[in-house]
Amino acid sequence: MSPYESTCTDCKLLLLILAIVENELNTLEIPCNKGSTKEDILMTKWKYVSRDGLSGNLLVKKKNENVSVSAGDEYKNRVSLASNSSLLLSEARLSDQRAFTCMVVAVEDIIEYTVNVVIYKTPLGLEITEKAEELEIGKKIKLGKCIAQDANPAVNITWLKNNKPLLQDGQGITSKFDPVTGLSTTTSVLIYSAQKEDTDAQFSCSTEDSLGQKFSSSSESFTITYSTENIMLQVIATEPLVEGGNVTLKCEADGNPAPTSFNFNLNGKETVKVENDNTFTITNVSRDTSGEYKCSLIDNPTMEASKDITVNYLDVNLNPTGSVEKNAGDTLAVNLKVDASGEYKVSWTKDNVKLDKEPKFTKLTYSDAGQYEYEVTLGALTEKASFELVVQGAPVIKQLLKQRSEDGRNKVLICEAEGSPKPTVSWSINGTSSNEGPFINGKIIHKITVVPTANLTVSCTVSNDYGMDTKVINVSSHQSEDGDKTKLVVGVVVGLLVAALVIGLAYWVYMRKSKYVIFL
Ligand SMILES: *[C@@H]1O[C@H](CO)[C@@H](O)[C@H](O)[C@H]1NC(C)=O
Ligand SMILES: *[C@@H]1O[C@H](CO)[C@@H](O)[C@H](O)[C@H]1NC(C)=O
Ligand SMILES: *[C@@H]1O[C@H](CO)[C@@H](O)[C@H](O)[C@H]1NC(C)=O
Ligand SMILES: *[C@@H]1O[C@H](CO)[C@@H](O)[C@H](O)[C@H]1NC(C)=O
Ligand SMILES: *[C@@H]1O[C@H](CO)[C@@H](O)[C@H](O)[C@H]1NC(C)=O
Repeated sequence: MSPYESTCTDCKLLLLILAIVENELNTLEIPCNKGSTKEDILMTKWKYVSRDGLSGNLLVKKKNENVSVSAGDEYKNRVSLASNSSLLLSEARLSDQRAFTCMVVAVEDIIEYTVNVVIYKTPLGLEITEKAEELEIGKKIKLGKCIAQDANPAVNITWLKNNKPLLQDGQGITSKFDPVTGLSTTTSVLIYSAQKEDTDAQFSCSTEDSLGQKFSSSSESFTITYSTENIMLQVIATEPLVEGGNVTLKCEADGNPAPTSFNFNLNGKETVKVENDNTFTITNVSRDTSGEYKCSLIDNPTMEASKDITVNYLDVNLNPTGSVEKNAGDTLAVNLKVDASGEYKVSWTKDNVKLDKEPKFTKLTYSDAGQYEYEVTLGALTEKASFELVVQGAPVIKQLLKQRSEDGRNKVLICEAEGSPKPTVSWSINGTSSNEGPFINGKIIHKITVVPTANLTVSCTVSNDYGMDTKVINVSSHQSEDGDKTKLVVGVVVGLLVAALVIGLAYWVYMRKSKYVIFL
């Protein structure tokens, strides 16, 4: 029992608030002018005013006399007077909530002090009833009813979500007063429009009285239902997806409860209904599988998701292939056909050396011979093929030369020939040493060293299966060639002629412009 008093010190009307707990018997002390007593008090009298306005005397104490109780049955055995004029009321109950007045008669004055006694009673407990089975997002629905039973005064009910108060419009709150017990039962109905995040929210109701005492109901959570808002189609396939592979379509949709059956639209050709599963697998895909795939809800076809599937393929056809034998001077058409699902790149190599462009042969030469290889790439797909080009033909002598040997004494004869397969080279004389270079791109160089003792006519002959060629060269026995001497003589004569012409021209200019001296 704890009394709460207003703070004024000399009030005629005092508000006394007392909290009582059901079934507990307490004695109330109702003070008379906060206990101040004067010596010259002639009489102190306590009376009360009931709710219906009737009043009744409780007790009287005259100076030098004993207390005389004049109360009716309700108070007869429960009232007494303290020495400081306070009224002591035992077994206080709710019906004691009323105004009590103490009248003090002094020698020169009669003063009345009124004390308003309020008896508080906390509710029996808070309970949520008429619970909604489930809440649907965006739909206003009665979530439940909160009852605060038998309280005084009537309490205010606050609904809480996750222990935070919900703003309410004040509707749906009723308070019932029981005139027999004097207690009020308050109910509050919460009409609530759920949101998605309310799925695990804890709802409760609570009250707080003016004494600061709080009461709460137990927490309740609700199943939140909502229809599908998002639908997503996932394509699960090995990368890169090529012909013969498998593709799984996976449809995912939200909602509570979430949908379990879907329609799959396959490339606009066919719609398949899948129940109690959200996947559909296409096996052994081909290039015709490429296209748009969709999934949708069976009961709401507008909820739809789509994805494009591309099956990669790379078909390459090369003509010619294998080994190709051609004659020098022929043409060779190289045909590379590519059928692919996207943009592709082609690169060529000849004997493992990269080529700038696709090879083209309008007139084959021996140097065109070799191993040609292409590589076509499309993403991770690669195709390779090659052909071997062999250029054949009768040998031809390109050059037959003579040179002085390094020591200047001998002659070196050089026979350069072209042809394929590799021609054999033969000379009309035996040299002191013969030397054959490598056979590259159909070319071969053969050298012999001779020591000419007489003027000779030497022939070089080259031959293979396709034919032969011969060339001759004259080798003199002289150390220096006649041709060289002649060239020297011609050079000297031309030099002298040019010098004479320059001198003549200078003299002519000097004579014409005699006034000026010109130095050349
Ligand atoms: C009056 O006296 C009673 C004891 O008789 C005491 O408990 C109480 O505190 C007093 N009240 C005041 C206001 O002085
Ligand atoms: C895959 O499909 C192709 C035709 O598109 C067919 O020739 C092949 O036999 C199929 N393979 C399997 C394993 O079914
Ligand atoms: C070259 O030498 C061979 C033997 O070494 C001989 O049979 C041949 O007659 C010689 N040829 C000439 C042109 O001297
Ligand atoms: C070789 O020929 C040259 C002319 O080309 C001639 O002057 C010379 O006498 C000849 N020598 C022999 C040994 O026949
Ligand atoms: C080689 O000399 C002969 C005469 O000795 C001559 O008829 C011929 O034209 C010469 N050949 C060459 C290529 O100079």
